Amino acid sequence: MKPVVAIAVVLGLLATSVVAAPTAGRALPAPVDTATAQTYLGELKVAADSNDPAYSRKLFPTWDKIDGTCNTRDEVMKRDGTNVVTGSNCIATSGNWISPYDNATWTEERSLDIDHLVPLKEAWLSGARDWTTKQREAFANDLVRPQLVAVTSKVNRSKGDKDPAQWLPPLTSFQCTYTKAWIEVKHYYALSVDPKEKDALTSILTKC
Ligand SMILES: *[C@@H]1O[C@H](CO)[C@@H](O)[C@H](O)[C@H]1NC(C)=O
Ligand SMILES: *[C@@H]1O[C@H](CO)[C@@H](O)[C@H](O)[C@H]1NC(C)=O
Repeated sequence: MKPVVAIAVVLGLLATSVVAAPTAGRALPAPVDTATAQTYLGELKVAADSNDPAYSRKLFPTWDKIDGTCNTRDEVMKRDGTNVVTGSNCIATSGNWISPYDNATWTEERSLDIDHLVPLKEAWLSGARDWTTKQREAFANDLVRPQLVAVTSKVNRSKGDKDPAQWLPPLTSFQCTYTKAWIEVKHYYALSVDPKEKDALTSILTKC
């Protein structure tokens, strides 16, 4: 084996073992890496938010039926918790959850909200106002991108519709993940960023 090839093989093995290592939190799908997030951020259209026509929550139907009696919310609760037991209606009757925004632990399903990481109103202001209702429904129920996450209702309320220039998860160690997820979702759905939001995202990425 040529030395260069040998090094490549070793690096490949290292990369594999990093990927295979157990991940700390049980939460949303892992977002893109920092370099990809930087590229994506550079590709996002910069534009002022617009609320014309005005946002309404009704324009984003939730929750879709996903599997049997399980809807999108139930699926996220099962994914994000441990020892989750569900009833015949698929609602969790018991389980353990860690809210990744604030590291708070919970055992009651109803104490948790499913947060839209990029809030529905934020999506509306940055492009979803031009979509069909079907497209908005797909966005609001997206289990593939890092967009839905079970968090305590307290932290969901403090976040509201704010973007990362106005609000970041209180758990500092989660802010990079949050920022990369935000950028990935905005990029996938071709949503714009406003100038202050872009500055905030750029600044956080430099620390990741
Ligand atoms: C989260 O809380 C647990 C204890 O509940 C603690 O052991 C852990 O270090 C905390 N993680 C972070 C990132 O603060
Ligand atoms: C979480 O907060 C957002 C923004 O205020 C809100 O739209 C959403 O309904 C909240 N989630 C739940 C389950 O209450």
